[in-house]
Amino acid sequence: MSDAVIDADTVERCVASAAQARERAYAPYSQFRVGAAVLTADGRCFVGANVENASYGLTACAERVALWAGVVAGMQDVRLVVVVADTEQPIAPCGACRQVLSELAPEALVIMTTLSGARREAAVRDLLPNAFGRWDLISPAASPRLLQIP
Ligand code: THU
Repeated sequence: MSDAVIDADTVERCVASAAQARERAYAPYSQFRVGAAVLTADGRCFVGANVENASYGLTACAERVALWAGVVAGMQDVRLVVVVADTEQPIAPCGACRQVLSELAPEALVIMTTLSGARREAAVRDLLPNAFGRWDLISPAASPRLLQIP
């Protein structure tokens, strides 16, 4: 596995893309705008921002929006996920996003950052240790079809 695409310029490009996506957040209820960017091994970058709903529980976080955009564009091998908010300290992905990160970006590094430049980072595997995953679906009682998830 090569880390060649995660040079400093690439990281900064991703941070800028996430900050730009944050401006397109739809957050009329919380006014809390979050942007995200997902970088793949082949250098593709997918962005997302939080999208809220009057039925609050339907809100989608920036991280999930970016990851889902990547899925429908054929994203492979996510190396880096950037999360940007306008907070004093960087924010960490919520529990639901950690589960989705674990599914779609298990090998990625997450950079949590603020508009003013504070940064923190953590591997997805450390954000959600002992995650529930496809391996848990494989049991003697499970359908053989579950063994064929690509
Ligand atoms: N939110 C994100 O988009 N990402 C996070 O990591 C944490 C929270 C959003 C969800 C909601 O629209 C708003 O921030 C307040 O919780």
